[in-house]
This record gives sequence, structure tokens and C-alpha cells, in this order.
Amino acid sequence: MSHISDFLVIGSGIAGLSFALKAAQRGTVTIITKKHDTESNTNYAQGGIASVMAADDSFDLHIQDTLVAGAGLCHRDAVEIVVRDGPQRIQELIAWGARFTKKRREDGMEELSLGREGGHSRHRIVHTADLTGQEVERALIEAVKSHPNIRVYEHHVAIDLITEHHLRDKAQMRERGTTCWGVYALNTTTGVVEKFLAKATLLATGGAGQVYLHTTNPSIATGDGVAMAYRAGADVANLEFMQFHPTTLYHPQARSFLISEAVRGYGAVLRTQDGREFMPEYHPLGALAPRDVVARAIDRELKKSGDSCVYLDVTHKPADETRERFPNIYQRCLALGLDITKAWIPVVPAAHYMCGGIVTDLNGCTSIRGLYACGEVACTGLHGANRLASNSLLEGLVFSHHAVMHGIAFVDRHTTSIPPDIPEWNDEGTFDSEEWVLIAHDRTEIQTLMWDYVGIVRSNARLIRAQRRVRVIAEEIEEFYKKTVVTPELIELRNIATVASLIIECALTRKESRGLHYNTDYPYADDVHWKRDTTISAEWRKRSSV
Ligand code: FAD
Ligand code: SIN
Repeated sequence: MSHISDFLVIGSGIAGLSFALKAAQRGTVTIITKKHDTESNTNYAQGGIASVMAADDSFDLHIQDTLVAGAGLCHRDAVEIVVRDGPQRIQELIAWGARFTKKRREDGMEELSLGREGGHSRHRIVHTADLTGQEVERALIEAVKSHPNIRVYEHHVAIDLITEHHLRDKAQMRERGTTCWGVYALNTTTGVVEKFLAKATLLATGGAGQVYLHTTNPSIATGDGVAMAYRAGADVANLEFMQFHPTTLYHPQARSFLISEAVRGYGAVLRTQDGREFMPEYHPLGALAPRDVVARAIDRELKKSGDSCVYLDVTHKPADETRERFPNIYQRCLALGLDITKAWIPVVPAAHYMCGGIVTDLNGCTSIRGLYACGEVACTGLHGANRLASNSLLEGLVFSHHAVMHGIAFVDRHTTSIPPDIPEWNDEGTFDSEEWVLIAHDRTEIQTLMWDYVGIVRSNARLIRAQRRVRVIAEEIEEFYKKTVVTPELIELRNIATVASLIIECALTRKESRGLHYNTDYPYADDVHWKRDTTISAEWRKRSSV
């Protein structure tokens, strides 16, 4: 079965949906998404969207905070664009129907209430209580569903991008170079693989938290976009920079539940089990230090004490205010028997955000013609070695805007039509295996290896051990994949193995410690040799075994 449109969008988070709404002004848009339309990292965002909205703030300050967090690797041009476009994109979100929390000024007028998070020198986080992502997702989905030019296919898992490699007439490959024509996707309701073709394709598949055993990310975040783009030959970069959020709830029934950084912005402090407030010993900003610093400090304290968690203490703040500002966190903890206005919150770090990804230029273009990437899946240069809190929803909005502008021009001047000889999905010779236990086992094994050996603190010995083991598992998965009828679990497992291998390769390549990548064998930053991205390009692959 084939579907054709002008624009194909893979993913229904903030990047994909905001791209689709603008692309639909020019042509037909198809969105495919893995599960239910709202299921995305976007939907779980708590803190909010960073942007310069206050009188005491400035673009220069937001730019400076982003560059400091990025530890010398941010691309200044990307930072400038994101920060300066921010206010306009927030206004657009409001026009699409997003309702953000407001406060009343002394003169009786209302204005946006702005939160503060780690690494920010000003209050600049636009939010909807502690459910910002849910509100953004609601507004965007409603706008998308009422647009006549957009068609959404839920429960469709993209498997692989369609490029010249799939054409029957391979001679065309030489003439055209690498171009993307769409994607093969598994309809998980029917079990049939369908062909989605388009003149321009956007990968907006989000992050890869599920590569790790403990993560704040929902189950959809298996790094599919990075793996698909890598297999198609696109450049990827900086995958060693996996951000660990310092504070997820430590509770057997809610292990991955995030306790927003906004709670620390509101005044919460971090304590060890014996009550010591430890962050001032690590950074002048205390609990509001950049995330990499806080996560490493917690890791250190836990290793020193042997305790299972540290504690976030917000009990000194007025209880009514805490309940009003963080209704979701308050209720979720209360349901587990923890009243956060009276008791400390047990917390541990967990994998949260992929700073690297598919390399794009400032228009969201990848190294493959007709293929764009935006949001968490992309590496635009904004985050460098460490993302500043609440800059990612903003990045998704800003670069999807630039990508759609470029994409519209690309579709307008599209001279060659979609090749007629793109074959249907070929599953000849595959069979329905009964070895599904292997898939569940391999997934957990990779996640555990990544957590134990490629986590907050790394070493050469740990990375090499992880590399050897993940390589063997990845080869076995590839063999299994070639022989077996595709299922969503197998597609995800294959992608998790690919992304894990790429993270390890990037981590082994970078022989220094910087931002989110800390290797005890190279404990310092080396500006002479390593103030640059770790790019896995076509040339790099020729030289390496990945
Ligand atoms: P996502 O929102 O993750 O959307 C990806 C989409 O792609 C999903 O619809 C998914 O189903 C789909 N998809 C994936 N693979 C496939 C496939 N193979 N086929 C089809 N569809 C596929 N950032 C902030 O700026 N501020 C915050 O306050 C904040 N809080 C956060 C809290 C939590 C708990 C988490 C997990 C993240 C938070 N982040 C926050 C990060 C931010 O939410 C994400 O970086 C951002 O939402 C990513 O948006 P996206 O559109 O790129 O991807
Ligand atoms: C949070 O609310 O702590 C998450 C913010 C972010 O990841 O940007």
C-alpha cells in the first residue's frame, strides 16, 4: 500500500506538529506516529519553554547562559537564532491555542508567569503549571486535526528511509546522488508494511532515553530517527552527550517520574540522607548549577555514602504555593504516600535528553537531499556538550520553522518527480519467529550495559567493555532481523542497538571530559584537540568498523 503527499512528517511531538501546521499552508502533509498521537517526549515536559520575555532579561543573557552550559561546543549561530526567534515562536504557540500560566501585575494587568531553572541567570521559563508539554501537545494536536491538508496515521512505526538504494534501477543512484523519498512504515494494527512517499521528509522522532535502563523518557524514545538516518548514510554527531536529569523520583512504583528542575528553581535544595545540603560544595549556583554538575555531584555523593538516593527538600516553602505551582508532582507523589510539602523527596538521576543527533544546518537540512531533521533527533549545534534546561522545546519550534521555510522552497522547485520504481516492502524469506524472549532479553541487556558502563561517569575500560558486548548483541540482532517478520519490538531493538553503538563510538573518540561526557581516564577538557564535534560521517565510517 502506498501513500503520497508533498510533505511527510515522522513524529507527532512539538517539532513534527509545528512543522506540519506550516507546511500545510503550501501542500498536503502526512504525519505518521508510532503510537497514539500525543505519545511523545513533548507530552511529558514539565518545566517549560525558555525564552526572553521579562523586562530584566535580554537576548545576550540567554545566549550567554546557553553557551556556558554548552561547555565550549555550542555553535554560536544556532544559539543566536534560537534565542532571538524565541519570543515570536512562543506567540505563535499561543495563537495556535496553548494556554500558559499567567500572573497579575501590580497595575492589575496579566502577564506570563516565568519560572527559573538550573543554569539560567533570569526567570524566563514559560510554563503551564508543571504540565507544560501536555498543554503544548493538546493545542498542536487540536490545530493539526482541524487542518484539511493534514492526515495523521497513528500506530505506524517507521522502519527505514527510502533512498536511491531502494530503486530497482540502480543507475539512477549515480545520477541523483542520495535523496530521500519517504519511508517504509509498519502499520501495527494490520501488521502490513506500507510505503509513505513525499517530496520532502521530516524526521522528528525525538530522543533515545530508552537506550538506558533508567530514563525519564516514555517508551517511544528508542532513537529510531538517528538509527534510520545513520543507516541511510546521513551524518550524525555528539552522541556521547547524553544528558542525565538529576532528579527523578526514587520509588519502586514510579521510577522514571521526573521531579522538574523548576522545583529547584522555586527554592528546593538537595540533601544527603543525613540532611547535609551538598550542592554549595560543588558549584556557586548550588542546586541551580547546570545539570551535568548536579548529576555528577549526586553520583559522587551516592558512591561515597552507599545510599540509594539523595533528597530534594521543598518543605520550607509555603504548602499552598507548592501545591498550586506543582499540582502534577504534588498529586503524583501524594498518590504514592509522599506529601512533598512535609517530607523530602527521594531522587536519583536518569537518562533524559540526547544532545547529539542527526547533523543539520540552520535550515534543518541533513546531508541527504529532501531529508530534514528537527527537535531532539537533530544536532543543530545549539546544545554543544550540555543542554541548558528548557531550551529543547524552544529548539524544536525554532528549527521546525526554518526547516519548513526551506522545505516549502524545496518542494516548489522540485523538478524531478518521485521515482515510479520504488518497490513495495520485501519480506520474502522471512518467517514469524517464536524467539520473542530474545528480544526482551537483548533490550534489557543493552540498557543495563549502557547504564553501568556508559553512564554519568565513564572510563576507557568501561567503554571498551560496553563496545565489545554491544557489538556482539547488535550482530545477533541484525541476523535475527534479516530472517524475521518485522514487529515494533524488533524495529526498536535494532535501533536501540545501533544508537547504543554510536554513543559508545562517540564516547571512545572523545579523549577528554567536557560537559555531559566525563571520562576518569581524561578528567579535563582539552581545548587544543577536542573543542569540536564528534561527527560520524561517511568518510569516518570508511575508516572505522561501525
Ligand atoms: P518528541 O516529542 O519525543 O516526539 C517524537 C515523536 O516521534 C513521537 O510522536 C513518537 O511517537 C514519534 N516516533 C518516534 N519514533 C518513531 C517511528 N519509528 N515511527 C513513527 N513515529 C515515531 N524540554 C524542555 O524544553 N522543557 C521541559 O520542561 C522539558 N521537560 C521534559 C520532561 C520529560 C519527562 C522529558 C522526557 C523531556 C523533557 N524535555 C523538556 C525535553 C523535551 O520534552 C523533548 O526534547 C522534546 O519534547 C522533543 O520534541 P520532539 O518533537 O523532537 O520529539
Ligand atoms: C524539567 O522540568 O526539569 C525538565 C526541563 C528540561 O528538560 O528542559
